Amino acid sequence: MTDTTSPLQRLRAVALRAGATLLDWDARRESLVVETKGASVDLVTGADRAVQDQVLAELAREFPGELVVGEEGDFPAHAWEEDVVWFVDPLDGTTNFVHGFPFYAVSLARCVAGTPQMGVVYAPALDELFAAERSGGATLERPQRGLDPRPISISNRTSIAESLLATGFPYQRGRRARLNLACTAQVLHHCRGIRRAGSAALDLCYVAAGRLDGFWESGLSPWDVAAGMVIAHEAGAEVSGLSGQDPLRQGRLLASVPAIHQEVHALLDAALADPEHWPLGEPFTGPTDWDIGE
Ligand code: IPD
Ligand code: CA
Ligand code: CA
Repeated sequence: MTDTTSPLQRLRAVALRAGATLLDWDARRESLVVETKGASVDLVTGADRAVQDQVLAELAREFPGELVVGEEGDFPAHAWEEDVVWFVDPLDGTTNFVHGFPFYAVSLARCVAGTPQMGVVYAPALDELFAAERSGGATLERPQRGLDPRPISISNRTSIAESLLATGFPYQRGRRARLNLACTAQVLHHCRGIRRAGSAALDLCYVAAGRLDGFWESGLSPWDVAAGMVIAHEAGAEVSGLSGQDPLRQGRLLASVPAIHQEVHALLDAALADPEHWPLGEPFTGPTDWDIGE
């Protein structure tokens, strides 16, 4: 019988209700009011706000007294000093949601002493709920189909040449985005393919489930990655910061099967070390149309 009282089960229940609310909004997507935050491509909708309100109220009831930081609210200056802090992304993949692309999720994580300990990522339009607790393994279930959680693990791929990787691009389309274009070009030469599906939380879960062999991105926030980090870790992935920095605080990370981890880091570092080749917007020399050839 499923234990409905463990912290992870209570978190799962919060995520399921949040997912149901997202599906309600999805059904009314045509009338969705879409606004922008900061960058003109950084979107926010009524769904983001409604789910955040719902989740914050439920977490306060289920886990009283613990600090909860949600994407659509303030980031308290003392958050990193707290022993326990929750990170909530009510809707990871807002751009996808707005466009009817079903790759979006609610992402909820509890961190202790700066490390994600428990996380749930629920993609309601895909009927997939990923969950993990530190040292407890990672699972995937299909709640709408009544399929119980089953353990997941990373792929057994051992070479970049056979790997399917993923990345993402920040909303600020300045140097950091261009820098990742350079990194993407560098990695593309060495791997089987690269995906950019638009939800960092789900990208990490796809590494956990062995559908992707690695994922890197910079310019992320703790609510994007905290839950996916513990899920990926528990499924056997290696998760580390870019340039040796703390992945959660700096929002820059690589999660991959251990066998290719150092090699992907080396490719990213090589792209960074060669600013001559960053696509910084200088005009191309030579032909510039699509008939440019190889
Ligand atoms: C975004 C998604 C996207 C990533 C962006 C994030 P949002 O989150 O995770 O994949 O590339 O950097 O901000 O805005 O949809 O919650
Ligand atoms: Ca997000
Ligand atoms: Ca979001």
